[in-house]
Amino acid sequence: MSRLSMAMLLLVSLVLATGPRLAVVEAVVVEGLTVGFYNKTCPEAEQVVRDVVMNDYGMDHTIAPGLIRIFFHDCFITGCDSSILLDESPSGEVPEKESSANGFTLHGLQTIDVAKASIEAMCPRTVSCSDILSFAARDAAVAAGLPSYEVPAGRRDGTHSRMADLPGNFPVPGHTVPRLTELFASRGLSQEDLVTLSGAHSIGGAHCFMFSNRIYGFSKTADIDPSLDPAFAQRLRKMFPRPKPDDNPQQAPKVNFDERTGEKLDNAYYQELLARRGLLTSDNTLALDPQTRPLVEQYAKDDALFQQRFGEAMQKVSKLDVIIKKNKGQIRRDCRMVNKAKGVRWMPIHFLKPPKHPMLQMINWFIRGFQQN
Ligand code: HEM
Repeated sequence: MSRLSMAMLLLVSLVLATGPRLAVVEAVVVEGLTVGFYNKTCPEAEQVVRDVVMNDYGMDHTIAPGLIRIFFHDCFITGCDSSILLDESPSGEVPEKESSANGFTLHGLQTIDVAKASIEAMCPRTVSCSDILSFAARDAAVAAGLPSYEVPAGRRDGTHSRMADLPGNFPVPGHTVPRLTELFASRGLSQEDLVTLSGAHSIGGAHCFMFSNRIYGFSKTADIDPSLDPAFAQRLRKMFPRPKPDDNPQQAPKVNFDERTGEKLDNAYYQELLARRGLLTSDNTLALDPQTRPLVEQYAKDDALFQQRFGEAMQKVSKLDVIIKKNKGQIRRDCRMVNKAKGVRWMPIHFLKPPKHPMLQMINWFIRGFQQN
């Protein structure tokens, strides 16, 4: 394995897998969200998100896996508060987005920007980024062939994002069932949820450095991971030559998780796992471990069951640690940044109406900057 490949894996795996557990607390599935939450305040909101997702999907099918992944990564760390969308945290800490689990591998952020901007133009400061992301993930799944499911709404947006929340709390490609089960349990998700949600890897793909350790220099005795189908491993090797130290990770090629129906959110992923063609160790392990294999076998036989349970599991994820209390969180105006702090409450209301004098206009502009919460 090359130094680059090793470095990328070390970055993604070691940093995330072995770091100390930090501020992330055990997640709770919060009840209190409502289907049709925006019926009165912004009745077009869900439709606008759907239109934007479908429009982007029409131009680029890879948007669907991208959005589902952003949603999962957001909810798994500090709940569905769209902290993953923040470009910066007010505390000055490095945000989640910069983590090696996210970074340039996140795909679909602009779709959320467009949906948010369109909704903001219709109903200012009404629809949270967290709800938009939950709607968009559902719409992406539907675009990829999943039957639709309801997304209760009413989430508020978080005001912090910390890359430091990920290490030790986030699954990495090299994890096997015991550790994955433990991590999912810490986020209020069961082992069944683990198997079901991993079915998201029925669409989209992974950059080669995420799994190149399995096809080059796997161990002292085997160059290729013996748990991989040898023909599949050879196909991967043809697509991805042995990594070189000067390879640019951002230009690393990607391969579909599911060789057969890579754009359809279906049970072919589980059939591939049984055929030892799981791309990541964390995929493969689901078919190898006696605790999870029976469900893999069941899904491999029953697409309808998988699709129904996948929708249900996504609903469950969408309720993790959501902020619903009015005195907590906020409705961000721009999903990439928190609204400026509330303040200057003593300003007379009439001052907020656009004044005529240029100097007053400047002061007004300044004040409004503080009153965007
Ligand atoms: C079980 C532990 C999991 C691990 C270790 C894992 C890891 C990964 C990795 C390494 C990639 C490739 C990223 C890249 O190279 O660009 C990926 C892609 C993806 N993951 Fe996961 N993942 C896990 C679970 C999930 C879950 C639960 C979901 C959603 C519910 C999900 C959704 C996706 C999707 C849709 C992609 C494809 C993204 C794209 O092509 O843009 N993953 N995952």
